[in-house]
Amino acid sequence: MIHAVYPGSFDPITYGHLDIIQRGVKIFDKVTVAVLINPNKNPLFTVEERIELIRQATKHIPQVEIDSFSGLLVDYMKKKNANTIIKGLRAVSDFEYELQMASINRKLDPNIETFFMMTNNKYSFLSSSIVKEVARHHGCVSDLVPPCVEEALIKKYAGYKVTF
Ligand code: PNS
Repeated sequence: MIHAVYPGSFDPITYGHLDIIQRGVKIFDKVTVAVLINPNKNPLFTVEERIELIRQATKHIPQVEIDSFSGLLVDYMKKKNANTIIKGLRAVSDFEYELQMASINRKLDPNIETFFMMTNNKYSFLSSSIVKEVARHHGCVSDLVPPCVEEALIKKYAGYKVTF
């Protein structure tokens, strides 16, 4: 049984992430979506909110587990007894950073393998930051995120006034 971990900030989960998860479970027996608890970042959604949104967005996929982690990813992988990391690559611009991450993770633990999946072309421009930017200005994000996330974004930014 191959257990893969798909780590990220997921602030919030987008259709780009969901596409990787849906394709990931066709390759691996189990995929753990692991939300990074990063005290240095200032996320829009709390870890609990992000987990709940991932739970709702993936409730139709039984092979998915959702968890959070802090510290080094390789230590979390060891704890979960998993040795495959899934990463999505949207464009060449992602490659340099992801190569660095895959290399340091392999240096820290040679048993860890990073598995890259090319993001579906229709989501190659998509990121959680872009989604937040559109939602913050009350733009439509219904083609970019699952309905539960759209609803949560609308609530978050309900009182937010756009100034020009
Ligand atoms: O969605 P993101 O923010 O691009 O995800 C980045 C993530 C969580 C995959 C990455 O920051 C990570 O693995 N952080 C954990 C700390 C770690 O192990 N860093 C690599 C060695 S320095």
